[in-house]
Amino acid sequence: MENERPSFLDLLIETHIGLERQGPGSAETVKKALGFLGPLDRFKQIADLGCGTGGQTMLLAEHVPGNITGLDMFPVFIDELKRKAKRKNLENRVTGLAGHMENLPFQKNSFDLIWSEGAIDNIGFREGLAHWHGFLKQGGFVAVTCPSWLTKEHPALVEQFWSDAGSHLDPVEKNVEILQDCGYAFVAAFALPEECWTENYFFPREKAIRRLLEKYAQSETMKEYAEQNQREVELYLKYKQHYGYVFYIGRAI
Ligand SMILES: C[S@@+](CC[C@H](N)C(=O)[O-])C[C@H]1O[C@@H](n2cnc3c(N)ncnc32)[C@H](O)[C@@H]1O
Repeated sequence: MENERPSFLDLLIETHIGLERQGPGSAETVKKALGFLGPLDRFKQIADLGCGTGGQTMLLAEHVPGNITGLDMFPVFIDELKRKAKRKNLENRVTGLAGHMENLPFQKNSFDLIWSEGAIDNIGFREGLAHWHGFLKQGGFVAVTCPSWLTKEHPALVEQFWSDAGSHLDPVEKNVEILQDCGYAFVAAFALPEECWTENYFFPREKAIRRLLEKYAQSETMKEYAEQNQREVELYLKYKQHYGYVFYIGRAI
């Protein structure tokens, strides 16, 4: 029977399960980040943490010949990642695992590359980088996106939004210091362009939410959920010069 009273979490999952991405990003920024890593055929074991349904996992698989393990806390996202891998005949190289990125279920020193888009801030930039360091081989790379301040002005409404979402923004220079504190040599950092947010994420998400508004027309939770998403879009459009996702790339030393 159809769920007539979906929770916020149900709606979050139902909105995102069919989307290419579950957060801002693009094929171009994946390629740009990979461009800082040198020859890619050295990367035999790769982890993609907070992989969602695997949009960027599949892009990585196109460019890097090694084995990729996607990990996400939502098993339904991992099921979707596995379906994608099967459709592309990549099951021998791309696997998925439900789990928590703050408590990785892997052997220490086992990865050449740890990738993570739009997820590390859920456990804290410092906490994530420090924990993941132990799972990289010496000289292995980390490439992560994290929401960050891009200017010296930090609008209170933006601060409040991210704090309500259980996250936190720091300036790029501070995050580079954190990366170095956690045992990585700094390689590069660059901000994701606007279309990563709008065309690639907000627009498809808005379409999915419009469908859900029809499906759950009687649900107050649905209305609140849609309004909250709309506030996020408006906030971004108003203050986008001050914050954004930044790709941080480091090498474990
Ligand atoms: C904004 S989405 C990004 C997904 C995907 N990487 C992308 O860019 O399209 C963040 C993802 O991190 C996952 N996530 C959040 N906290 C997590 C945790 N503690 N452990 C594992 N996954 C987590 C969520 O389930 C979600 O799929």
